[in-house]
Amino acid sequence: MLTDNQRRLFLKGATTIPILGGAILAMHTILRYFKPTMAGGLNATMAPPDEAGSANQIVAELSELKNPWDFKDFIYVRTSVEYSSRKTQGAKIPGFVVRLPSDVPGVDPADQKTWFVVVQRICPHLGCTFNFITNPSELHGGYNYKPPEPVHPYFACPCHLSVYDPTRKQDNGTGVSLRGKVVSGPAPRPPRFMKFDIKDGQIVITDTEGGGVG
Ligand code: FES
Repeated sequence: MLTDNQRRLFLKGATTIPILGGAILAMHTILRYFKPTMAGGLNATMAPPDEAGSANQIVAELSELKNPWDFKDFIYVRTSVEYSSRKTQGAKIPGFVVRLPSDVPGVDPADQKTWFVVVQRICPHLGCTFNFITNPSELHGGYNYKPPEPVHPYFACPCHLSVYDPTRKQDNGTGVSLRGKVVSGPAPRPPRFMKFDIKDGQIVITDTEGGGVG
């Protein structure tokens, strides 16, 4: 049986412990605020985001794209420097490379780079993955677009039926003229481009146009 004094002491202890616990937790949170989460602590070097960390990446052999309208889809892994303990973050960007016929305006037989259109396969409307449609009846039936003569393949998005013409160019909104003019649907601009070089018979992506959808 506890005396009054002992009961008072017990109750005092029982109320002090939670208060102390709360104070320790609060202190921990405050101290944690001052401690950086990035590896290397305060002495770590901060690199700017989107520094040229993306390695050049081979996405196609010229031998795979010998004929007009041959195409290949690929995934380009873009690496960005991030302010995190992992330091870098990879973004997988789907793309298309398409060989254009030699009679398309702007295609120069002496300049291999003009033979190809290389785009990010992400629709600038709301970010769906678009397709490369080689069958004109599929364009009409599936994408509500009746292409004019002479008929050729188009990029087309299944979400809201935007259709892009790889043979024609359109301003991307910043004064850069890009292949993939919007010919139908709500897309506000052509697909984002991928910068590329041709080396040793291979198409090599060197960079991508930045920005999100729209
Ligand atoms: S997301 Fe492609 S048309 Fe809307």
